[in-house]
Amino acid sequence: MSTALTVNGRPVTVEAEPDTPLLWVLRADLQLTGTKFGCGMALCGACTVHANGQAIRSCVTPVSAVAGQAITTIEGVEGPEIAALRAAWTAVDVVQCGYCQSGQLMSACALLKTNPKPDTAAIREAMDGNLCRCGTYQRIEEAVALAAQQTGQQAAKA
Ligand code: FES
Ligand code: FES
Repeated sequence: MSTALTVNGRPVTVEAEPDTPLLWVLRADLQLTGTKFGCGMALCGACTVHANGQAIRSCVTPVSAVAGQAITTIEGVEGPEIAALRAAWTAVDVVQCGYCQSGQLMSACALLKTNPKPDTAAIREAMDGNLCRCGTYQRIEEAVALAAQQTGQQAAKA
């Protein structure tokens, strides 16, 4: 079956069974391998992408469920939030093995787009479903707070 969607701003039509997970379409059909497979059961967040701006778990999202929607992956995400997050990730030196980190960044980015000034509780709640086997949670929290501070300062200057 053909499914039309927009991926990272580009209209694409993919041939897949309707229940094929979006993650497989992204990784296998579109070669966008920045989005990772972890649990396959919506438990780890490694596969997080945005669908119309919302963070979703692509491993449990059938491609048919996002027909016509705008999908954004780590390869295509843009804007002041992700720029600040990437800079903060480097400044705080968040990453260990890196496997979970594109999912972490996509969840953090969705948070900052909807809540530009999250407090610690809001950061923890938004990041709660993203697991990290290396245990980088404290640095992630610090980096999200730093990015929020920086985007807030940019907004104040604008
Ligand atoms: S791979 Fe999708 S949530 Fe774990
Ligand atoms: S950095 Fe290794 S799993 Fe998170």
